[in-house]
Amino acid sequence: MKKLAIAALVTAATALPALAQHMKLEDQVKYRRAAYDLLGLNFGSLSAMAQDKKPFDKEEAQSNADFAAMLATVPRHFFGEGTDKNTKAKPEIWTHRADFDAKMDKMVGEAQKLPAAVRSGDMAAFRKQVADVGHACKSCHDDFRAK
Ligand code: HEC
Repeated sequence: MKKLAIAALVTAATALPALAQHMKLEDQVKYRRAAYDLLGLNFGSLSAMAQDKKPFDKEEAQSNADFAAMLATVPRHFFGEGTDKNTKAKPEIWTHRADFDAKMDKMVGEAQKLPAAVRSGDMAAFRKQVADVGHACKSCHDDFRAK
């Protein structure tokens, strides 16, 4: 069941660049927020486990990590030109695109290390990876997301 859901997500994500091209601007905003919300939900669970705010459950953590790694790749496809209206995305995204893209790459790279960190069963490695992802989220939000 979980594998099927992930396979469906992978298929959906592969088709995203093509889909986003023909999408209304306000729909791009909707989809990137939906992706961030789901990413935040899964990452938030990992973060709570890493900080002992909720008990570590390996199966749940594995599922959260798999989804986070996948979902991390989604939002970048929905930041097209002109999608800075009625959103918290700052206009600087489009004037400092290389910096924005580098921060996105960094976050995606760190999020994709989460599944292996969970699988390793090494709690110190898991905590460090969660912290590295958290920093990558924050470094973009600090510069490119309005309060
Ligand atoms: C490269 C930049 C960047 C990175 C990296 C990034 N975000 Fe964001 N995030 C944004 C921007 C910009 C918005 C505002 C989007 C909007 O309002 O259209 C946002 C919005 C959000 C939202 C609110 C969505 C909503 O419904 O309004 C959540 C939750 C979120 N991000 C979580 C995360 C998490 C968790 C990570 C790291 C795993 C992360 N973000 C990494 C740029 C980034």
